[in-house]
Amino acid sequence: MAAGAPPVIAIDGPSASGKGTVAQGVAGALGFHYLNSGALYRTVAIAALEAGANLDDESTLSDIALNLRAEFNGDTVTLGNRDVTIVLLTEAVSVAASRIAALPGVRKTLLTRQRAFRQPPGLVADGRDMGSVVFPDAVLKIFLTASLEARAARRYKQLMEKGMDATMAALLQDIRERDQRDTMRATAPLQKSANAVLIDTTYLSAADAVAQVLALYRQAPRAP
Ligand code: C5P
Repeated sequence: MAAGAPPVIAIDGPSASGKGTVAQGVAGALGFHYLNSGALYRTVAIAALEAGANLDDESTLSDIALNLRAEFNGDTVTLGNRDVTIVLLTEAVSVAASRIAALPGVRKTLLTRQRAFRQPPGLVADGRDMGSVVFPDAVLKIFLTASLEARAARRYKQLMEKGMDATMAALLQDIRERDQRDTMRATAPLQKSANAVLIDTTYLSAADAVAQVLALYRQAPRAP
């Protein structure tokens, strides 16, 4: 870690593994800032879909990422002046986000914006390459996982609570396909890095997962 740089806890894992809930819980407990990088990619996806952009056009999508007028406050995301928190969760946006996140130009463009979240007293960063590319000097790297069925059930509950439409069968299929695409892609594929600690949350409550991360953070060599 660069001298004086606020500590970062990086949390990665497959779609719907509970990383957002756990990352927010950890950030809340430590009074740290929180970066939901998936929401950032999702917001770029909304802007791209609304602009009618070709989702393979790297240079146009990088421009959209660069000029994104988005704000992130806790769970609430605004794009321009609009609250897009709910739209963010739709499957169409999930699929588009996963496609554009495979483009190196888009990822590179979003680096500076993501690093700006690193402010005192510290940051919990959730998402794909947080520990490997964006914050390689993170004091703690966690890889959260859970069974496909547990993840689909969580996503189903989340969508129902937000009054959205979904079926378990469709969610299982979507998550399976997204896992496949995220794992196979050449740029920043989904994989546990060697120095990340694996936590399986299939049978773990969010509170227990948060407690495990906090305990690991306290033991981390750089923890205050
Ligand atoms: O985590 P979440 O499901 O919200 O992420 C949406 C998509 O954005 C994922 O499919 C993933 O491929 C991509 N993503 C990424 N790198 C990040 C965060 C998300 O590639 N740091």
